[in-house]
Amino acid sequence: MIIRNFNEDIFLETARMCRQNMELDRIPDFLFREKTFGDFNFNPELTLVTLDDYNNKVIGFIQGVVRERKDGKVGYIKLLCVDSNFRRRGIARELYAHVENSFRENKIQLIRIYESYPNYYMPGVDPFYTEAIAFFERLGFKKFNDTSNLIVDLSANNFSTEEDIEKLKSNEIICYRPSKEEKEEVLNWVEKSFYGWIPEVSRAFENNPISLFCAKMNDEVLAFSAYEVNNIGTGWFGPMGTDDKLRGKGVGGVLLKLCLNEMKELGFTKAIIPWVGPIPFYMFYANAKVQRVFWRYEKKLE
Ligand SMILES: CC(C)(COP(=O)(O)OP(=O)(O)OC[C@H]1O[C@@H](n2cnc3c(N)ncnc32)[C@H](O)[C@@H]1OP(=O)(O)O)[C@@H](O)C(=O)NCCC(=O)NCCS
Repeated sequence: MIIRNFNEDIFLETARMCRQNMELDRIPDFLFREKTFGDFNFNPELTLVTLDDYNNKVIGFIQGVVRERKDGKVGYIKLLCVDSNFRRRGIARELYAHVENSFRENKIQLIRIYESYPNYYMPGVDPFYTEAIAFFERLGFKKFNDTSNLIVDLSANNFSTEEDIEKLKSNEIICYRPSKEEKEEVLNWVEKSFYGWIPEVSRAFENNPISLFCAKMNDEVLAFSAYEVNNIGTGWFGPMGTDDKLRGKGVGGVLLKLCLNEMKELGFTKAIIPWVGPIPFYMFYANAKVQRVFWRYEKKLE
């Protein structure tokens, strides 16, 4: 077996190998590109493939990324897949060992699986990939939480907001789509209230239409909701957040519905609400249902 860095030459072959061997996730090429080269922390040293000695075919793939967080750097295993004909031969273990060694050299003290926000494919390990659970637990990872993705059937729901928007207006709360000129104002507020979501909100300004709605009271931005800022092209909603001051007034519901309605107009038939969070809220406003469950794992390095 040969391990080498992932690059453009083997992009299509690697994407295909992952598609054929991750039965719950048929990741299309455009999405595989967004997850790999499209990641602003993409690091070829942490993105490796295993080639079969005999015919140079890609039979294993791992992608690690490092993110700067408020409390220091965190290493993530962002994607991992081994061809099902070559499993239980130590291929994933060897790929993983390279990435973990590099994390250690970088003085990283925490590794998490998949949930490498803002650009991530899944918010944890899907336990129906039972081999992956066995694999990560064998390598010393501990489950610390779980989370789910919800799904909304856009065609079956009506997301009209006119009346609610008028009601909010009479209480001096204005819902609007920010323009490019208002980006700085919005991001300054996001930085104070929802620091971790700056990159995603920022990404919304690159879409056409800008895939973001906000609410203001007394000329102060106090709530937002966004869509199509991760796994772009697949109908992902979020993130969204309402300042404590404005909670319980129906603002979040309106901003959610403005996004879902626009996604429907753009032709999406379903929306994924990932890494949730307040399930009853999404059920109430959008009849959202649990679509998938993820177990969150971490490993602390000394
Ligand atoms: C998870 C995956 C990457 C493991 O690849 P692999 O090359 O077969 O793993 P390794 O041979 O390096 O296994 C290392 C250890 O993990 C554990 N393990 C891996 N697969 C296992 C299985 N099917 N049953 C029990 N333990 C298993 C074992 O402890 C193994 O060591 P051992 O063989 O000495 O007992 C592979 O099953 C895969 O690609 N699955 C589909 C993709 C996937 O699930 N990705 C995660 C999405 S959430």
